[in-house]
Amino acid sequence: MADDPKKAVLTLAGKAVDMPVKSGTIGPDVVDITKLYAQTGAFTFDPGFTSTASCESKITYIDGDEGVLLYRGYPIEQLAEHGDFLETCYLLYYGELPTPSQRKDFEKNITYHTMVHEQMTRFYQGFRRDAHPMAVMVAVVGAMSAFYHDSTDINDPRQREIASHRMIAKLPTIAAMAFKYHIGQPFIYPQNSLSYAANFLRMCFAVPCEEYVANPILARAMDRIFILHADHEQNASTSTVRLAGSSGANPFACIAAGIACLWGPAHGGANEAALQMLTDIGDPSKVPDFIAKVKDKTSHIRLMGFGHRVYKNYDPRAKIMQKTAHEVLAELGIKDDPLLEVARELEKAALSDQYFIERKLYPNVDFYSGIILRALGFPTSMFTVLFALARTVGWISQWKEMIEDPGQKIGRPRQLYTGAPRRDYVPVTQRGK
Ligand code: ACO
Repeated sequence: MADDPKKAVLTLAGKAVDMPVKSGTIGPDVVDITKLYAQTGAFTFDPGFTSTASCESKITYIDGDEGVLLYRGYPIEQLAEHGDFLETCYLLYYGELPTPSQRKDFEKNITYHTMVHEQMTRFYQGFRRDAHPMAVMVAVVGAMSAFYHDSTDINDPRQREIASHRMIAKLPTIAAMAFKYHIGQPFIYPQNSLSYAANFLRMCFAVPCEEYVANPILARAMDRIFILHADHEQNASTSTVRLAGSSGANPFACIAAGIACLWGPAHGGANEAALQMLTDIGDPSKVPDFIAKVKDKTSHIRLMGFGHRVYKNYDPRAKIMQKTAHEVLAELGIKDDPLLEVARELEKAALSDQYFIERKLYPNVDFYSGIILRALGFPTSMFTVLFALARTVGWISQWKEMIEDPGQKIGRPRQLYTGAPRRDYVPVTQRGK
């Protein structure tokens, strides 16, 4: 870095190149390297994007060292405590909390789009009943692009908005149908008089032969889980949505790409893996053995629900999840959930162990979420589906921001090529045995 704090100087092969340094409203400065290749003929190398800001964004801010998460400037704790998911959707998408009339209109717009085209119900029958619901989600959400031709003009702001509303509104219906198909029960149509979360719980747990009234405490817990998962700046799935969208692709297809990325166990699939881990450990007395295995690198076992690329402190969402877990278990009269015992013991052991302290590994959002979702009645295979449902608003808000950026370009990373240099084709008969 040069003396001027707003300029970086890189010296490459004896040539010094100035690079502008940009500052955001908060957070680390960035060195603008967009002209680096033109000026030096060199690329930067940053697999995994550990030091690379891929875009400029006004949506979500994370301070990983301090354990801070802000949606449009508002702390996640305040939104989870005082707000609700639909308000959070409005905030993420439009940039401000809604006024009462904006809120009413938004709710109406979402409510009017909850049903899916009846033809879509046929897709489900094409899957085996034991298909993973995330596989079904990738396919059905991708298939939405075939239904809404009017939403494919991404250059029209109104069509972008309608497509976005459709996604926020229909994801719960599609997710609930994936669940119902999986367990062999009939689909339950949405009921627009209910809140977003209560409607979703009803579509998942009601059956046509009985009255179903969603428990307000459980609906509130569901809503809070949606808020906590709504956005998380440029994570792998969001970057996937942006990259897919950067070519001008259909937004429903872009969200399907995000769902595919989210599915992996290092990302959204971790909640499923975390609950599986707690189940496998089974008893608090087995925690020391498990921790020893995690620390043994040859075992390749990780403490699932622990560690984060950005948070090097307690994930603020994990704290809210822990509190919500207690509320849900108390409401359901579950006094001694053995898995919660195991989780508490694991957390205690890890937070006082040098291995985890040195590497700044803390519980992330997935450590407690599985306990809540299981108590609500969801099988583990549905956990990542719920994450995808909630994250859809974040993905679509980021997609919109990207499309509306006048400097938007197709995303096209470069590489460090380490393969064979140029060589000539050899006919098969001359390639040995
Ligand atoms: N258990 C044990 N050791 C871990 C863990 C863990 N959960 N996470 C990281 N480490 C160790 C690594 O072995 C490594 O140790 P080393 O320096 O001795 O080699 C060090 O901590 C750094 O790990 P990286 O993998 O380089 O960290 P990275 O930032 O790439 O990984 C990740 C972040 C993928 C989330 C990782 O912590 C992990 O695999 N956690 C478990 C899966 C999980 O809970 N994912 C959910 C993330 S939150 C979300 O997507 C919503």
